[in-house]
Amino acid sequence: MYQGVHVLANQNTQDCWEKWQGYRDAFGNIIQTTINRYNVIPNHILILGAGNGNDIPIDLIESIFEEIVLVDIDNNALNNFLNKTSDKSKYQTHIIDLSGIADQVESVDLINVSNSALANIISNLKPNINLSAIKGKFNIILNANYFSQLTAPLSYKFLKDHKQAPNYIKKALSKVNNEIQAYLFQEINNLLEVNGICIHSTDIIEIYYNELTKEKNESCVLVMKATNGLQDMANIQSILHIIDERGLRIEGSNYPVNLIQELFDTKTSFFMYWPFDHGEFIIKGYVVQVLILQKK
Ligand SMILES: C[S@@+](CC[C@H](N)C(=O)[O-])C[C@H]1O[C@@H](n2cnc3c(N)ncnc32)[C@H](O)[C@@H]1O
Repeated sequence: MYQGVHVLANQNTQDCWEKWQGYRDAFGNIIQTTINRYNVIPNHILILGAGNGNDIPIDLIESIFEEIVLVDIDNNALNNFLNKTSDKSKYQTHIIDLSGIADQVESVDLINVSNSALANIISNLKPNINLSAIKGKFNIILNANYFSQLTAPLSYKFLKDHKQAPNYIKKALSKVNNEIQAYLFQEINNLLEVNGICIHSTDIIEIYYNELTKEKNESCVLVMKATNGLQDMANIQSILHIIDERGLRIEGSNYPVNLIQELFDTKTSFFMYWPFDHGEFIIKGYVVQVLILQKK
């Protein structure tokens, strides 16, 4: 059911095009600034985790780049992406499992499995990622908010309350995530042109607030205070150490710092707010960090 979880999640967000307009515009500014600042040649771009494309400034990217390669595990979502484009001749799509674990857990009932069986399954996973279908080199590779999703189906049974996940499962998940991330960053580096840029975007903090009941999560209190109610998102940098100390960072969104230093120059980092469920009284959304990494 690994792939099924992603298909369901994409179905849930497939109508978010209007809602995420502001988010896409902000992301478009980051992409445009990066291209101008680092003199990126606008030939080839690879978008990993492209999905429905609702979080991606499609028009901007299409107007800049000659060739656009999209990768996702969900074929329907990529079709939704293509339906939003104007010049389909610029696009190639590949259905690839970027975690390399999908086949190994596909037949497991990830909701009804016992905790000990799940821990056992996770510990025995051997990520086997195959990007050989992606040909050529790219000026930009965009990681589009999928790092937090790579092992998410494995903790689906704790979706309502992640605190219920036993520590031994969290530890095993984190080990698999590290292995997957290390492989992906190596491959991204190989697929970049000389001086190419990886725009690594990932949701790092979930915030939740119910205005009626005043119920909020710990992250919400920290984020709202630091950013003056989501106005000054750059201030997130100042609370990241507290987020980490309290274990509030979304699983999969931490990255292998040493490996990144070896492979890339970290140019800069941006923060954005990505709104999800905004009902009359409920605020639920994510803080997204965008790292600009230049191939060494
Ligand atoms: C948070 S979504 C991004 C939102 C999505 N672009 C949209 O517009 O609705 C992350 C994307 O990563 C994809 N993804 C998650 N795990 C993946 C995997 N193992 N291999 C390839 N794609 C994956 C999902 O299918 C989804 O499209």
